[in-house]
Amino acid sequence: MKDILHTASKFRIGCMPTGFERIGSGHINDSYYIKTDPDEAMEYVLQRINHHVFTDVPALTDNILKVTKHISAKINEGKNDIPFESLHLIPSADDLFYYKDDEGNYWRMYNHIRGSRSYDLVPGPELACEGGKAFGLFLKLTSDMDASGLFETIRDFHNIGTRLAAFRRVCKEDPKGRIQGANEEIRFVEERAEEMHTILKLGRSGQIPLRVTHNDTKFNNILFDPDNRAVCIVDLDTVMPGYVLYDFGDAIRTGANSGAEDESDLSKVNIDLELFKAYSIGFIETAGDSLTPNEIKHLAFSARFMTFIIGLRFLTDHLAGDTYYKIHFPCHNLQRARAQLKLVRSMEENAASMEGIISDLCKK
Ligand SMILES: Nc1ncnc2c1ncn2[C@@H]1O[C@H](COP(=O)(O)OP(=O)(O)OP(=O)(O)O)[C@@H](O)[C@H]1O
Ligand SMILES: [Mg+2]
Repeated sequence: MKDILHTASKFRIGCMPTGFERIGSGHINDSYYIKTDPDEAMEYVLQRINHHVFTDVPALTDNILKVTKHISAKINEGKNDIPFESLHLIPSADDLFYYKDDEGNYWRMYNHIRGSRSYDLVPGPELACEGGKAFGLFLKLTSDMDASGLFETIRDFHNIGTRLAAFRRVCKEDPKGRIQGANEEIRFVEERAEEMHTILKLGRSGQIPLRVTHNDTKFNNILFDPDNRAVCIVDLDTVMPGYVLYDFGDAIRTGANSGAEDESDLSKVNIDLELFKAYSIGFIETAGDSLTPNEIKHLAFSARFMTFIIGLRFLTDHLAGDTYYKIHFPCHNLQRARAQLKLVRSMEENAASMEGIISDLCKK
């Protein structure tokens, strides 16, 4: 208790931190809600940054500063009729925006978005639509930033060339003798490998712009107010240059799957078209004007792409001996891969409907 409050006192909050509570599920960072004295005028979120995943904390912090300042300035101009708040970083006592403790842990502090909450699972179409609005607005508000001014916090994060090369290397070496049990999945991946270069090719040839993207568009990174309006986007560690198709696609992969990410009963894994449509309505409402025709044309495909690349990464990790993703039982990564590849198949079967939904929304 004393340690968390002691760490909180290393930031310039102008009042006494008096209590804390753990928040979030802590997959990447450890987050604490911080109460203050005398009148609890301000509330904060203290986070221990996972510096094993994000090794260059100063560069990461610089990205977050640039993006949050830009979004705050835009919000202050007041041109958007949607209520939206920005995170801002609180300076530390030595005027950095992070603090390194005696044990080598890195910490940062944000304003707490008062009265807000997040959802791990999408509760239904209305909130899915709100979520789409929030990520669309994040994109719109950052669309005039120079993405090349941001540091790549995780290199080649969604680079299909690099991911396929790693997969093929593991297939060749077969270090755990697991190829035999995954032949069907390997074939599924290879049959689609060429098509999955589409977004990278569009980007490299300048047919879609490099933008400031979030890169972790899970539903629990959206904060909702008590009336269930989406009011803020959090988890900015992976904000870096990227393609909007990655953000849209991953939101659909994680938010419009009728089964769990690691579902063992594959008959439960399908694209939920109602949630897909609801998210798309919100996203296009706020981001629509900022999107180029080539981006719009590939939105539906992007969901399939992101599901494919995550399935590919689970499969690669299974074949390599589970070195990256934590597993909770034997062959967990294979089960995750199978569930993602089933979702890819479901999206293929529903491709015409998904494309129809997007083109109808963009006509309006
Ligand atoms: N500034 C904030 N105001 C209110 N709540 C916040 C704030 N920042 C984070 N949270 C809450 O804490 C949770 C975790 O924060 P964040 O997403 O930044 O960390 P994370 O490492 O991704 O954690 P997780 O593994 O839980 O996703 C969020 O889902 C949100 O509910
Ligand atoms: Mg998060």
